[in-house]
Amino acid sequence: MIEISSLKAFTASIFFLSVVLPSVSGASHEPTLDELKAKYNHDFNLNNIEILQHPYLEDLPVFTNKHKLSKRDDTTSGCSTAVTVERPSSYETSQKAYQFLDYFWSQAMYPTDIVQADSINSTLFTNNSRGRVSVTRNFDGVELNTEYIFGLFARVPDVEFSMLGYPTSYIITEFAGGNGDGFFASSTILNFTFPQLEGFVIPSQADFWIKLKTEDGLVKIDEYDAVFRNFPWTYNVVAEVSGAALVQAAVNTTYASYTGEELIKMNAAKSICDAAMQYCVGDDSQYNSFEECFEYLYEDVRIGQGYEGGQDTVFCRNVHQPMLAFRPHVHCSHVGPTGGDMCRDSDMAYDDVVWRYVDYFDNMVYYSSY
Ligand SMILES: *[C@@H]1O[C@H](CO)[C@@H](O)[C@H](O)[C@H]1NC(C)=O
Ligand SMILES: *[C@@H]1O[C@H](CO)[C@@H](O)[C@H](O)[C@H]1NC(C)=O
Ligand SMILES: *[C@@H]1O[C@H](CO)[C@@H](O)[C@H](O)[C@H]1NC(C)=O
Ligand SMILES: *[C@@H]1O[C@H](CO)[C@@H](O)[C@H](O)[C@H]1NC(C)=O
Repeated sequence: MIEISSLKAFTASIFFLSVVLPSVSGASHEPTLDELKAKYNHDFNLNNIEILQHPYLEDLPVFTNKHKLSKRDDTTSGCSTAVTVERPSSYETSQKAYQFLDYFWSQAMYPTDIVQADSINSTLFTNNSRGRVSVTRNFDGVELNTEYIFGLFARVPDVEFSMLGYPTSYIITEFAGGNGDGFFASSTILNFTFPQLEGFVIPSQADFWIKLKTEDGLVKIDEYDAVFRNFPWTYNVVAEVSGAALVQAAVNTTYASYTGEELIKMNAAKSICDAAMQYCVGDDSQYNSFEECFEYLYEDVRIGQGYEGGQDTVFCRNVHQPMLAFRPHVHCSHVGPTGGDMCRDSDMAYDDVVWRYVDYFDNMVYYSSY
C-alpha cells in the first residue's frame, strides 16, 4: 500500500515539475506517425487526408471517408464466419449457449450487422431486453438494443470521423456457464476498424455476461452486462494515431501549431455538426447553423476521456452521431447542446454510475438450486 505521505510527496514533485519546468514538458514532442507505425507495428495508409476548402474551416486537415463510396456492398471487410455460424434453436446445453454467442457475434460484425439493423427489432433480443455497456449507458427494449448493438456500428463506416470504430472480425476467448439455464459469462476479442484510418485495426476485448431466454420460439438475449475491457486505453491509442496523422497533414496550414487532440476535436465536431445539419431538421433541429454547432462543441464541450462515452462530451456525441439516420426524433438531442438522456453529466457522477446498476437487472444474483 502506498503511504499517504509518499503519495503527497509524489504528487508534489509532479506539481513541481509541471510548474517549475514547463519547458521540459513543452519540449517532449508528440510521437510522429512513423514512430507510431513502428510502435504499433501497423502498416496503415493514411493518405486519405485532405485540406478542407470550407468557408468556416478553411485549411483544416480532415480525413476523407473513402468507405462512403462502397459502404453497402463491402463484403471484404467482415470475417467469413458470419455466414457459417448457425443459430441454435435452444440453449439446453453449454454447447448450444456457446453457439448462440458465436451466432450473435457473427451477426454483430460489419457488414452483417446492417441486416440486423435494418430489421429494426432484431430477433436476437427479447422485447423487454435490457443491458448496460461500460463507457456508455443502459439500453432498454428491443428497438434500442438493436440500434445500439447493431445499428450504431453498422453506421459508423458512413460517418466522416469516428472515435469508436466498428468491428469486422472476432474470436471468442472465454466462455463459461450456459448449462441449460441460459446464463453465461464470456470474453470476445473484436478487431475494430475506423472509417478514417485505412489499414489500422485495433483489437478490443468485450466481456459479456448474458442471460438468454426463449421468446416466441427463438433463443434471444434477455439481459446483458457488457464491459469493454481497457476501452479508455484503446481510445487513447486511436486518438494518438489519428492525432499524429492530422498533425503531419497540418504542417503547411494555419493549424500547424495545433495539437493532435485539438485537430481530433475539430474533426469530430465537424463530423457531428455535418450530421446534425443533415438529419436534425424541423422539430428535431439542435443548432441554428453549422457554425453555431461547431463553435459550441469545440469551445464549450470537453472532448472527453475514454470512459466518458455517456457524458457531456464530444466523444459521446460522436458515438451517437451514426444513430441520427435511424430515428432523428429519438437521437438528435444526443448530439445537441443538452445531450438529451445520453450525453449529459447530471446523472453520471461516479457514484451514480456505480450504484445505478444495483437493481437494474431482474435479480442481480442468480443461482441454480442444486
Ligand atoms: C419494434 O418494437 C417496438 C416495441 O418494442 C414497437 O413499438 C415497434 O412498432 C416495432 N417496430 C417494428 C418495425 O416492428
Ligand atoms: C414481442 O413483440 C412482437 C412484435 O411487437 C409481438 O408480435 C410478440 O407477440 C411479442 N412477444 C411477446 C412474448 O411479448
Ligand atoms: C485481428 O487483426 C490482427 C491484425 O491486426 C490479425 O492478426 C488477427 O488475426 C485479427 N483477428 C481476427 C479474429 O480476425
Ligand atoms: C509542406 O510544404 C513543403 C514545402 O513546400 C513540402 O515539401 C511538403 O511536402 C509539404 N507537406 C505537406 C504535408 O503538405
